Amino acid sequence: MKKIIVIPGDGIGQEITASAVEVLKKVDEKFKIGMEYETRDAGGTSYEKFGSPLTDETLDACKKADGVLFGAVGGKKWDSLPVHLRPEKAIFGLRKGLGLFANLRPTKVYPELINSSPLKKELVAGSDLLIVRELVGGIYFGPRCESETKDGVEQAWDTEIYSVPEIERITKLAFETAKIRRGKVTSVDKANVLAASRLWRKVVVDVAKNFPDVELNHLYVDNAAMQLVLNPKQFDVIVTNNIFGDILSDEAAVIGGSIGLMPSASIGEFTSLYEPIHGSAPDIAGQGIANPMGTILSAAMLLRYSLNRDDAAKAIETAIDRTLADGYRTADIFTDGFKKVGTNEVTEIIIKNI
Ligand code: IPM
Ligand code: MG
Repeated sequence: MKKIIVIPGDGIGQEITASAVEVLKKVDEKFKIGMEYETRDAGGTSYEKFGSPLTDETLDACKKADGVLFGAVGGKKWDSLPVHLRPEKAIFGLRKGLGLFANLRPTKVYPELINSSPLKKELVAGSDLLIVRELVGGIYFGPRCESETKDGVEQAWDTEIYSVPEIERITKLAFETAKIRRGKVTSVDKANVLAASRLWRKVVVDVAKNFPDVELNHLYVDNAAMQLVLNPKQFDVIVTNNIFGDILSDEAAVIGGSIGLMPSASIGEFTSLYEPIHGSAPDIAGQGIANPMGTILSAAMLLRYSLNRDDAAKAIETAIDRTLADGYRTADIFTDGFKKVGTNEVTEIIIKNI
């Protein structure tokens, strides 16, 4: 049996992971994979029950699992807690604790949703890119100081640190992924200013020597942000550090029209974790209107990368394509002339399409 830990988290995380598990059960029935599920808490929900956003028991259960399906965490209610108790701490605990060094965020443009893109149709049509974001290093995890006083003035600081092995590991994964895509890697850095970026670029160039059939170019992050909206079709795989990847992946997500459809995979050495890239949307939680597609597509990535079942993953992706082509839309992507459906209804339609 393949053991999947399901962490719904907070807000709409509860509803959308429930949908994704229903879809996985259907796929399991059809493809005879043999999957079992165990639900665990994280984020504000875990804080309410156990006084901590991520317990050791939950982390241990994830370490032993074949894959982790994660919803979202966070909410106004917990915003005023001290940093170490805030829901986001669960995300960092899982990333570090499971060694999730690579975050894969694909952006796909669905022809049916092209009118929802903020960019001109002709710019967006056909773009298909993957951001490979380093996830357990850099300024997110470097030494920091929340507050200190120097010469009578309060200041705070964070540190960007990258080692050669950390850069090598993420770069290799990016090149290997590019090999099975369109064979192009764009490395994004700020090597004109930052020392850690200059090392990044040097290591990327070294690693690239082992992949002669993959084309490599480099962009500074400010230019990359601009190129993403000027000409997204130029990109295949973008590899970048933790903070630049955070920023660029939100930008890339809306190229396709809605962040509600975007899945992600966080790859670890042993276990990997799959989650939609949107947040817990407390404003619409509990109303049954959230779009579960990002989470369902994350479950498809789980099948592909953790269980090696590309066939089952494709079945889910095709079922979503079909659901959109048939005109079903959740509130976030609804426009006049289409059929408006809630979370449960759209889940049932996707299941029927599998
Ligand atoms: C993301 C999110 C997180 C991040 C937040 C919630 C801490 O924005 O996964 O992109 O910054 O990594
Ligand atoms: Mg982000």
